[in-house]
Amino acid sequence: MSFKAPSPPPPGRFPAHVAIIMDGNGRWAKIRSLSRVKGHEKGAETVRTIVRASREIGISHLTLYAFSTENWQRPSSEVAALMALLSRFLNSERAEMLENGIRLSTIGDVSRLPAEVQQTLDSVKADTAKNTDMVLTLALSYGGREEILRAAKSLAKDAADGKLDPEGVTEQDLASRLYTAGMPDPDLLIRTSGEMRISNFLLWQAAYSELFFTPTLWPDFTKEEYLSILNEYAGRERRFGKTGEQIG
Ligand code: IPE
Ligand code: IPE
Ligand code: MG
Repeated sequence: MSFKAPSPPPPGRFPAHVAIIMDGNGRWAKIRSLSRVKGHEKGAETVRTIVRASREIGISHLTLYAFSTENWQRPSSEVAALMALLSRFLNSERAEMLENGIRLSTIGDVSRLPAEVQQTLDSVKADTAKNTDMVLTLALSYGGREEILRAAKSLAKDAADGKLDPEGVTEQDLASRLYTAGMPDPDLLIRTSGEMRISNFLLWQAAYSELFFTPTLWPDFTKEEYLSILNEYAGRERRFGKTGEQIG
């Protein structure tokens, strides 16, 4: 597929927060009779391209689904290769993140990641902590249900301890206990590889996200296609339950 419209959408019409389910690395490799790991390596190059493009366009939050709670069930050799690739990626991107004002953040149960990966994450997060131009959030060992369950447990504990009145619990009380506390909800959620599902990603936060599914496999996803999706997003009408007339 080829895509026209490589110019960014008009100012004020692009999303503040883009979230992406980066899917299709394995199929990309299979078509080429390569190992799945080669697909993940090529996928990491796409990550670099899309992070750069997002920063150039002025997206303030980019959240990438890199590893789900369910992905722990993959063969241990693939999990190990993904973890090693993540460490390499973080080390190779550290300088560019610093140069471009990108702050690294994570959502998910990172305590399940190998110790070396956690150390690398901590050091890149610390190095980039003062950056304000864009927040790059990696979803690692992330599951939407696990996240909501964790928040529910925290609410239950505070109620049991007498710190919170169960009748008075608000959406804000729950949202502030999610991994994404303080982040805006995603305006646009993109999934590559043609699958039409959410796969346990940002279940609470995507309540009103614009969804975009493309058949392109993640390693083949380009800046041009990204820009064309952003342009389509700019033309959509977000109603949030109101009528078209109310939106104007
Ligand atoms: C996405 O690609 C990367 C991860 C889930 C880690 P897949 O590895 O799921 O690729 P397919 O879906 O098998 O093609
Ligand atoms: C979703 O992709 C998770 C990530 C992209 C990290 P999967 O490939 O794991 O999703 P399913 O299994 O097809 O739903
Ligand atoms: Mg997949």
